Amino acid sequence: MKLMKVLIVMMVVVFACTAVFAAEGGNSRKGKYLYKKNCKVCHVSGAEGGELTPLSKTQKQWDRFFNEDKHKKSPEVMKKFSEKDLKDINQFLFDHAVDSDQPETCG
Ligand code: HEC
Repeated sequence: MKLMKVLIVMMVVVFACTAVFAAEGGNSRKGKYLYKKNCKVCHVSGAEGGELTPLSKTQKQWDRFFNEDKHKKSPEVMKKFSEKDLKDINQFLFDHAVDSDQPETCG
């Protein structure tokens, strides 16, 4: 009976955490995959877009890039993604931005 209670508490905690992450919007893990596959082609040092990693910007700057700038230098780049894909990529870059809790260079 005690075990059951512990299990229920654990389930509630897990559920609450998932809900918090979901509220952020995108799926960071999927965003990382999409970023590596689609953005890195032009965004490594030496390539036409220049080196770019999540650390290149702050969280606010990433949000601004996705909401306002939208890759102004070549907007067609963003057109091949769905809203959901862009949200995921935005989430990944946001989660690992230079001022985030988990800055990451290997983007
Ligand atoms: C076809 C090549 C190409 C692809 C693919 C590409 N970019 Fe770019 N990107 C560029 C070029 C070119 C620039 C302009 C670089 C400059 O101004 O020196 C740029 C600029 C940027 C900038 C602005 C950098 C700054 O701070 O001024 C950001 C941010 C960016 N790209 C993000 C992305 C993201 C995110 C993706 C994937 C969704 C992506 N790019 C895919 C070519 C590309």
